[in-house]
Amino acid sequence: MPSLAGQVVIITGASAGIGEETARRLVRGGAKVVITARRPDRLDALALELDATGANVLAVPGDITSDADRRKLVAAALAKFGRIDGLVNNAGYGTRGPVEIVPVDLIRKNYETNIFSLIALTQLVVPAMRERGSGCIVNIGSVAGKIARPLSSIYDSTKHALEALTDGLRGELKPFGVRVTLIRPGFIATEFVEAANTVSADVVANAGPYAAYYKGYGESTKTMRRIAGVPDDIARLVERALTSDNPAPRYSGPFHAKIMLLLKWILPDRALAWVVRLKS
Ligand SMILES: NC(=O)c1ccc[n+]([C@@H]2O[C@H](COP(=O)([O-])OP(=O)(O)OC[C@H]3O[C@@H](n4cnc5c(N)ncnc54)[C@H](OP(=O)(O)O)[C@@H]3O)[C@@H](O)[C@H]2O)c1
Repeated sequence: MPSLAGQVVIITGASAGIGEETARRLVRGGAKVVITARRPDRLDALALELDATGANVLAVPGDITSDADRRKLVAAALAKFGRIDGLVNNAGYGTRGPVEIVPVDLIRKNYETNIFSLIALTQLVVPAMRERGSGCIVNIGSVAGKIARPLSSIYDSTKHALEALTDGLRGELKPFGVRVTLIRPGFIATEFVEAANTVSADVVANAGPYAAYYKGYGESTKTMRRIAGVPDDIARLVERALTSDNPAPRYSGPFHAKIMLLLKWILPDRALAWVVRLKS
């Protein structure tokens, strides 16, 4: 079983939420982490909190959608630590709104962050892992990668795409000893909702014939907050994957995520749609 101690792990989207908590947990376990996101102040504060000596933490601010920033990230990780054992593809956000009216540019941007940039960064990290015959890629998916909801299908479709991508990559890299897994968080209390609200504010404000859909939306958000898990629920799954010789193809958490996925598995589509409408 690979020990966490000494592993060099890149974590994207580490300035908040799940990525930030994952960095905390991995450093506690003895890993060396390379943290990245767009907000340098957040990253620097986290780096200082985790290791004031700077020996085990490297903050590399950058936008995951920028090719130059992705290359800078990988080069900085290799320059400081000499190798990369783990990549946690966590940076991501959601766009809300009915398919009919979300501008295609917004949709492209969401795919650019959640899918294309994730692939591009993975492509930069995989060659050395493959040549060395070891490494672990952990993609942060979502229950939304299995269950799509009205007004959320742009984001949900990015996470559906990530399911397929992860499965294919797992098979491709298995012969080379590189492990690939997907984690499906349920509702986790982070800045995710605020970020989605900001990105989607214009769409929601101009929802036209769909405006009625948004009635009760605040109430359902409150319900979600009541059952939401905490970022460490997911961070501990990341740790489990990184320390397993043969990680499960996918993990989910917290408990409500497992229930939702079970419902997806056992309920006919129409029954599931009814349940999802109540919750979304
Ligand atoms: N919270 C949930 O309920 C939930 C459920 C299922 C799945 N997830 C997934 O979990 C992952 C983490 O989300 P979270 O809940 O922790 O949300 P969060 O608190 O909003 O954190 C998102 C992180 O992604 C970073 N990020 C976003 N766009 C970026 C870009 N272009 N370049 C670099 N970094 C970028 C943000 O940093 P900057 O803004 O500083 O760049 C931030 O660090 C996402 O993939 C999300 O889809 C979350």
